[in-house]
Amino acid sequence: MTKKFSLITLTAMLFFSTMFVINPGLNLSSSGVSTAFAEAPGKSASAFDRKITARFSSDNAMEHIYHLSVEIGPRVAGTEEEWETAEYIQNELESYGYNTHIQEFGIPDRVEGSLTASYTNDEIPMRLATGSAGTDAEGLTAEIYHTGLGYPEDFTEEAEGKIALIQRGGFTFWEKTVNAAEAGAAGVIIYDNSASSNPFTPSLGGNVAPVPVMGITMADGEAMAAAAEDGHTATIQVTAFENQSSPNVIAVKEPKGGPPTGQDPEIVYVTAHFDSVPGSPGASDNASGTGTALELARILKAYPTEKEIRFVFVGAEEIGLLGARHYVSELSDDEISRSAANFNMDMVGTAWEQATALYVNVVDGQPNAVWQAASAAAERLGNDTLVLFQRGSSDHVAFHDAGIDAANFIRREPGTASLEPWYHTPEDTFDKISQERIQEAGELIGSAIYDFSSRTVPGRGPGGR
Ligand code: BES
Ligand code: ZN
Repeated sequence: MTKKFSLITLTAMLFFSTMFVINPGLNLSSSGVSTAFAEAPGKSASAFDRKITARFSSDNAMEHIYHLSVEIGPRVAGTEEEWETAEYIQNELESYGYNTHIQEFGIPDRVEGSLTASYTNDEIPMRLATGSAGTDAEGLTAEIYHTGLGYPEDFTEEAEGKIALIQRGGFTFWEKTVNAAEAGAAGVIIYDNSASSNPFTPSLGGNVAPVPVMGITMADGEAMAAAAEDGHTATIQVTAFENQSSPNVIAVKEPKGGPPTGQDPEIVYVTAHFDSVPGSPGASDNASGTGTALELARILKAYPTEKEIRFVFVGAEEIGLLGARHYVSELSDDEISRSAANFNMDMVGTAWEQATALYVNVVDGQPNAVWQAASAAAERLGNDTLVLFQRGSSDHVAFHDAGIDAANFIRREPGTASLEPWYHTPEDTFDKISQERIQEAGELIGSAIYDFSSRTVPGRGPGGR
């Protein structure tokens, strides 16, 4: 596959980005072999660790992150962009010499909407009512008809064809909707009756509305009511997504030699999700984990391991871990019984200054095989940033639920365990990724995976060292 991207551009962009976000001590290298551990090897970093630390190139990982977050952008489950990302990952894996396959799975039907108005350039935050009607692709544009609580007598014939702006309170959202629709209104916007920074979701009690219905904040409702007096219009767009599917991309690294007993080898899963939430370029969440896992797939290809390593890049994580759950649901009992561990990477390279720790999130909080492999690698490499933490919220949950030792690696602020402030926003952009931290994550997680996959007996290193 042709790279549309040059390292010179990348280096220039990174240089620029350091001027406003990334921690001032960051020293970016374009050599591909850089930073923390390679320059300051721990007391007992083995020759095996050095095969990882010397070869892991954060330049390559950053190229993947750039491609996903800048060249592709938001990669929402079920969209063309998510599929384009899967194709990119597949091409990369094939270029490293893997046989790959795409596993397609269906995702539930859903609706998404937007609200804009002629008095502002900004999209107005809203929540669609469950059971709202849809619109066509252009949406519904109409004058705003501001009324009170939405009693039948609050509507005159002026309401016909307009978008009714109704205040929350007094009686049900469904009754307000029926009254507006009976008066001929083409859409319903209900604004809150108490101050809140987020819009509310009107519940229609299981009914299906004949017109689009949504909730907005009190402040936005009041601004819209004022604009209605000047004859402004609102535009409601509601799209239904039906019969969509998402991809997982899988590459298998065959074991060499196999365990001495002659049984089928154990399996190690290395996972990262590549989808993002709507409107977010998802550089940290989770181009960072995808780029790091791809680079690990590249460098591990050449090294024989006792265990089978499966690189599983999953889609549709952000709508409920669907890709990982589907992948695990398709494993046979034999595969499950041979499954040794899942190393999941999700948000491994934020430049957010406070995120100095690399959390190892385990569903039950117990120190399992992944934690043991990671903490042993950290000790060998002289890295003291690891924190064992009880948390789900990512693809490792699907593996844990099948009884497989699983953990998610994620950069967080120690103590508070909070995430970068731009998590799940349009601000989750490439310039807020730290190449140094990607290098650190790749070296640490890679050493842990390589050591763990090379052992047949717990506690013994590759080749029985
Ligand atoms: N990248 C986050 C994972 C995450 C967030 C891990 C916070 C640990 C702490 C992930 O993509 C995400 O947003 N997960 C969802 C849950 C999922 C089931 C939709 C979340 O945490 O809200
Ligand atoms: Zn994520």
